[in-house]
Amino acid sequence: MAAEPDTPLDLFADGDAQPRRETLGPGAVLLRSFASARAGALLAALEEVVQRSPFRFMTTPGGYRMSVAMTNCGAAGWVTDRSGYRYDALDPLSAACWPLMPPVFRELAAQAAGAAGFAEFEPDACLINRYQPGARLSLHQDKDERDLSSPIVSVSLGLPAVFLFGAHRRAERPRRVPLAHGDVVVWGGPARLRFHGVQPLKEGRHPDLGACRVNLSFRKAR
Ligand code: SIN
Ligand code: FE2
Repeated sequence: MAAEPDTPLDLFADGDAQPRRETLGPGAVLLRSFASARAGALLAALEEVVQRSPFRFMTTPGGYRMSVAMTNCGAAGWVTDRSGYRYDALDPLSAACWPLMPPVFRELAAQAAGAAGFAEFEPDACLINRYQPGARLSLHQDKDERDLSSPIVSVSLGLPAVFLFGAHRRAERPRRVPLAHGDVVVWGGPARLRFHGVQPLKEGRHPDLGACRVNLSFRKAR
């Protein structure tokens, strides 16, 4: 299969060298700075989530400890352990429900999905990834969700990272997409099962988040 054609520029912000919106392929769009104005509110809500369900390093079924620390909010949370990958209504650390999805999370996710052409997105799960320098996420597909007709909405906060956006086969070379604080990527429809990952995070210091990147990824899991 041929590589995706290079980014058509749909729209420019006035006086801004970077396009605000970049098509990454059919069903996939990068919305630059879409979350920037609400980043403070998102981070305040995140504080409350991690007080109840702190970041933890999960172990894959193969026994590998992930370099990305994770937690969740919403009715369902993504977990991995020796028995497999799944969505669970309970946080295994507390044996209680995951924290409720904060309204500012839910609203941002629905608006970003709408802006990308996916109306009425109602996520029930938000996986929260924390990358410290060196942490990476290898190429994978998000396919543990029961509802593949809903998109994935992915919000970047903190340090910049290189998002790898691949195709439908792992072997196909992914495109490198630099993501900054406030950027949102949405993929669904024909792009829903595209492979993706994150390159090892570079050292740095973000004014709000310090030496880390946090990614919120919204899904309809059930
Ligand atoms: C994910 O694939 O779950 C998150 C991707 C990211 O951190 O940008
Ligand atoms: Fe993913």
